[in-house]
Amino acid sequence: MRRVQFFDTTLRDGEQSPGVNLSAEEKVTIALQLEKLGIHVIEAGFAASSQGDQEAVRQVGERVKNATVVSLARAVSGDIEKAWTALKSAEAPGIHIFLATSPIHRRYKLNMSQEEVLERAEAAVRLAKQYFPVVEFSTEDGGRTELDFLCRVGERVIAAGADVLNIPDTVGYMTPQEYGNIFRHLKENVKGIEKVRLSAHCHDDLGLAVANSLAAIEAGADQVEGTINGIGERAGNTALEEVAVALSTRNECYGVETGINLKEITRTSRLVSKMTGMLVPGNKAVVGANAFAHESGIHQDGMLKNSATYEIMKPESIGQDGTQLILGKHSGRHAFRDKLTALGYSFDDQQLNQLFVRFKEMTDRKKTIEDDDLVSLVEERLGDG
Ligand code: KIV
Ligand code: ZN
Repeated sequence: MRRVQFFDTTLRDGEQSPGVNLSAEEKVTIALQLEKLGIHVIEAGFAASSQGDQEAVRQVGERVKNATVVSLARAVSGDIEKAWTALKSAEAPGIHIFLATSPIHRRYKLNMSQEEVLERAEAAVRLAKQYFPVVEFSTEDGGRTELDFLCRVGERVIAAGADVLNIPDTVGYMTPQEYGNIFRHLKENVKGIEKVRLSAHCHDDLGLAVANSLAAIEAGADQVEGTINGIGERAGNTALEEVAVALSTRNECYGVETGINLKEITRTSRLVSKMTGMLVPGNKAVVGANAFAHESGIHQDGMLKNSATYEIMKPESIGQDGTQLILGKHSGRHAFRDKLTALGYSFDDQQLNQLFVRFKEMTDRKKTIEDDDLVSLVEERLGDG
């Protein structure tokens, strides 16, 4: 089976979420958990961005033993040298060089011609190759770049020695079909493309980051980039836990293996949320508090008969505690009886019906019913005789 490699940028693109600032110690703690999760490449930071980040990248590089640790760098010698200073003692060092390629970025941000971009990209990769065993080149805003020019950039950096060619959808503008087509086009038209790993890096401005990443994988990408919980600039990055679970749950569609240790997903998500202060919305796919919670009576009844009726994966398979049947105003008699039994009570049908009427009255007053509420309800009823 084809292997898709996971590149995690929680510590770099994720840290670009407004209000997030991780210390070197926090970065090491998260990186060690990412290693347990089975991440193949950890982007520890942007060494040239600050003294503190250079030190954080150095510490992550020294502590992580089972993943490549990379630093981001602009396509300039100073950044490449700072990245090397930070990572020269790492077990498996790598560098991630980026340069914008789209017309809008070339014109307004860089003020560079296509030729100048090609030359700068080639020079940066050649220089980086003198230090690093793994060099990734990213065509920033690749999604909005002319396809012909994207191919030319790809050819130049491959000839200069790049190991990974990443095509970011920097502004989250692509649709799955468009983004997949870019990868198909590159595979068919770029000389030497078979020598590099093709990588997908998506942002979530239209809520399409995961769908676009999966489309790229279907089109032949063999590396996917993203963050835990999808944190990152603006609307965030591809949520890697969602990609990992989609590739596993729908393996018959994608036919790839990842080597990701799915059981570590929940622990990793909680750690990242705690250390970044970015809360995970309850309804977030895979890791949200409600991802395996069922409130409606019809669903709860189905779940009690066979969990496959309303769950497409086992919560335990991603390290969650288990299914939750939440008692609320949509809950039915089955779940109610089940909960009372779990609390140690047993009632005949008539008693249960009377309690159920009181329970329903309670649900109109309270959004969710806790165990304590049920105990008081029952004890009151028993007190009434
Ligand atoms: O989204 C992006 O283009 C990036 C680059 C630095 C690769 O994060
Ligand atoms: Zn990005």
